Amino acid sequence: MLMKQHSSRILFGITGASGAIYARVLLDELVCHGHEIHLVASRNSLVVMCAELDVSFADGRFDASILLGRKPPAGQITVYDDTDMAAPLASGTFHSDGMVICPCSMKTLGLLAGGIGQTLICRAADVCLKEKRRLVIVPRETPLNLIHLRNMTTLCETGAIILPAMPGFYHHPKMLDDIAAHLVMKICGALGLPRSDRHSWTGTAVETV
Ligand SMILES: Cc1cc2nc3c(=O)[nH]c(=O)nc-3n(C[C@H](O)[C@H](O)[C@H](O)COP(=O)(O)O)c2cc1C
Repeated sequence: MLMKQHSSRILFGITGASGAIYARVLLDELVCHGHEIHLVASRNSLVVMCAELDVSFADGRFDASILLGRKPPAGQITVYDDTDMAAPLASGTFHSDGMVICPCSMKTLGLLAGGIGQTLICRAADVCLKEKRRLVIVPRETPLNLIHLRNMTTLCETGAIILPAMPGFYHHPKMLDDIAAHLVMKICGALGLPRSDRHSWTGTAVETV
């Protein structure tokens, strides 16, 4: 259901790290707030989505309605192939209000840190960095080796926001979606988008007068 109209144009990359539920809940949040979404799912992300969300994609082609679990409003989500280097988001002339890669695999993180725009996701993220636009990277792996840590440092130094898939638990989540929603609230904040404060920490005050 559409809740509110905003004009933000958000680029959204989904890669093959564990945590497909984060992608689903984030997509739902962006759709509900009426954002214009330009979505790229890597080939490997489809494998993880199928394994973790019990979905399947006909002919192995990504379908945003299947990830979302419903049909989004017409025209709100544009999907591109990760090999399509002629897509608009491969160019700095295509304005965006920011990009998020959620979840982000260590492979994609490595390509990004090396400045290798080999996939559309990597190229679009590289464009965000060079154009000084917001880039929020949601890496997921554990444990992390020194290469992973150095890649995150490089990207942080270059202007990306590193927002690891580390949900909090102080809002007493009851369901998996509640856990994901906490992280999604953080991602929306990092993207500079209005967000629901449903999961915000309200402190330990004894009394409000
Ligand atoms: C079920 C499953 C879970 C995975 N989880 C992770 C993960 O949490 N982090 C990670 O870096 N790679 C993970 N991988 C491996 C990536 O999918 C693999 O490195 C892939 O090449 C990433 O490609 P992409 O970045 O183009 O999507 C996982 C693979 C599978 C099949």
